[in-house]
Amino acid sequence: MAVDIEDLLSRMSWEQKLGQLQIVWRKDPAEQRALVKGGLGAVFWPPSAAATNELQRIAVEETELGIPLLIALDVVHGQFTIFPTPLAQAASFDPEVARSDARASAEEARAAGVNWTFSPMVDVTRDPRWGRVVEGFGEDVFLASGLAAAKVAGYQGSGLAEETTVASCLKHFVAYGAAEAGRDYNTTDISERRLRETYLETFRVGVEQGAASVMAAFNSLNGRPMHANRRLLTGVLKEEWGFDGLVVGDADGVAQLVDHGVAADEREAIRLAIEAGVDVVMGGTLLVDAEGTPLLSPGELSQERVDDAVRRVLRLKERLGLFDRPFVDESREATAATAERRATARGAAERCIVLLKNDPGRGRERLPLPPRGRILLAGPYARSLDHLGAWVQRFATPVAAGLADALAAELPGVDWDVAEGADFFDPSEEAVAEAVERAREADLVVLAVGEPSRISGEASSRSDIALPGAQSRLIQAVAATGVPVVVVLVTGRPLVVEDWIDRVDSVLCTWHLGLEAPAAIAAALSGRVNPGGRVPMTFPRAVGQIPIYHDHERTGRPPQLDGMVLPDEQAEFAGPNNTFDYYTSKFIDLPLGPRFDFGHGLSYTTFELSDLTVSPDRLREQDDGAGTAEVSVTVRNTGTVDGDDVVLLFVTDAVASVAQPVRRLRGYRRVALPAGGSARLSFTLAVDDLCFWADGTHRITEPGEFSITVSDGASTVSHPLFLA
Ligand code: GLC
Repeated sequence: MAVDIEDLLSRMSWEQKLGQLQIVWRKDPAEQRALVKGGLGAVFWPPSAAATNELQRIAVEETELGIPLLIALDVVHGQFTIFPTPLAQAASFDPEVARSDARASAEEARAAGVNWTFSPMVDVTRDPRWGRVVEGFGEDVFLASGLAAAKVAGYQGSGLAEETTVASCLKHFVAYGAAEAGRDYNTTDISERRLRETYLETFRVGVEQGAASVMAAFNSLNGRPMHANRRLLTGVLKEEWGFDGLVVGDADGVAQLVDHGVAADEREAIRLAIEAGVDVVMGGTLLVDAEGTPLLSPGELSQERVDDAVRRVLRLKERLGLFDRPFVDESREATAATAERRATARGAAERCIVLLKNDPGRGRERLPLPPRGRILLAGPYARSLDHLGAWVQRFATPVAAGLADALAAELPGVDWDVAEGADFFDPSEEAVAEAVERAREADLVVLAVGEPSRISGEASSRSDIALPGAQSRLIQAVAATGVPVVVVLVTGRPLVVEDWIDRVDSVLCTWHLGLEAPAAIAAALSGRVNPGGRVPMTFPRAVGQIPIYHDHERTGRPPQLDGMVLPDEQAEFAGPNNTFDYYTSKFIDLPLGPRFDFGHGLSYTTFELSDLTVSPDRLREQDDGAGTAEVSVTVRNTGTVDGDDVVLLFVTDAVASVAQPVRRLRGYRRVALPAGGSARLSFTLAVDDLCFWADGTHRITEPGEFSITVSDGASTVSHPLFLA
């Protein structure tokens, strides 16, 4: 039965309207119940079907209008079954991985009474000092947009009224990932052109996908805090893009307008935020207290704006089917991971692993591990269960056994020796010395190290993104024994690895892979799974290089590797081959470029790209998008084992009225190929793919020559394309 929203709105009092525009979380269930009885329209709720049904019953049966509740929770990469973190999912270069997480999360969450998740986080970021990179899809706006759309589709399914869907929430609008110095909640100041090209785009794509809500960001942007940014919240999001969902403030984000210094007190902050386009205030002083007393009087807020906000809330509740079915079937509630969802999470985890290094420098590649021999497994992640990553609720199903157990099961013929080797944080050397002694008795050492999830995520910016504690020392000391070393790097972000990377033979980056992490990592180490992930966010050589990202501009003095040979007295500043132009954009104390570039990733096999065609290789601007070019390439598995390759399509605009990036990602495909097998991949390029923002208002194309480059990190082929 469709509800007549206009009729309902016309019958609502001022207090009842304000009650719909607030979400709070309260530890005391009795207080939560009292607020709902007083007219609160949305709550945060740790999922329990019985508890949410009780709140819904109060809302529906004990209030005058019986309007059901929105019940929200941060289900970011899993509810009970924890999937790899979103940054890990981006490393899969497979939107299906993101979608499968969202589907499983929605099923688990809705069955527990949650109908609104504060996910996906779609903030593009180029600064791994920012702890929240773990929650997003990395540095590339094209990759992040595709994954954002996949998550929205996964959460929302074919309709929000289905019992297995939840309303999604694109966050944090906007440019939160551009915080100066990577310091969380810090100032952002960005040109309109870059705002359009990089930071708004993932939200535009998510809105186009039908995202039900958007969350305002904590940061100020060009001096205007986002919670009071009418031009973007209303002007761009609601008017220009036609977004008809609701905008929710972030936790106390409205109240923090006082801290930003743009509101004298919280009443003014609330007025500013709602007038700017925030529809639902999260936290802060209650708009309506448990006695139903409103904080603001009708004269303090535009009635029209309040009615619009209430309409958006009621519309979402109707889309969710809550007026017809406010209660969930408690018999369907899952309270832990099921075997089926574990299998899905395992498959996702396996696809996120990136083989960063597998150097045959000392005779042979050390991965996959041999099935026999004596192997020392050391480092805090040898036994740690901390693989779930940031943004996991206390009721998530815990990891039952660590990597040591998983490897013993995966490679039973190996004579395993397991040592701590180093703590996550303790810089002491005792455990290192112990591990070094035991390394001398081993044929090979696996060092499982990394960044524990408690220093990843919100409010976890790090000024130094090396391995914490004595873990680097552990690697250096074990490597100094001369025993071959394989590193398993468990992390929420790209790390600086310079003080050990050249001393080890192989490195597997596993991110925080979630519930099935140890088994997935063990399978990748044994070779049963051939790693196919790729780096979704550049690994810098030093914090001083940040921001560093693949689609940077050329600059007027691009560094060249084949430049002049430096005079001897400056040779110490030379690049890897002691030859680069001195007066170019570089650091004189670092080799050129990042440690690992966007898209980097190795395999246990090899691939080759060939036969790139672009047909037609001339497009006409006035084709108005009707004109497309088919880009085709053959990829062959030239090795001896099956494996996945990730093929990336880049466009380079040689000359334009605005300085262009050296390349822009415009397509990607992950393809599984048997040893010796090949496939012909095709991408469709439209004129729209050649567009760029000339400033903050004009998105244009310009005729000229473009270079189409297809690369899988190992091989690269290019072809010109002309736009007339
Ligand atoms: C946090 C985060 C936001 C989250 C919200 C509710 O501060 O910024 O991403 O959804 O609070 O938990």
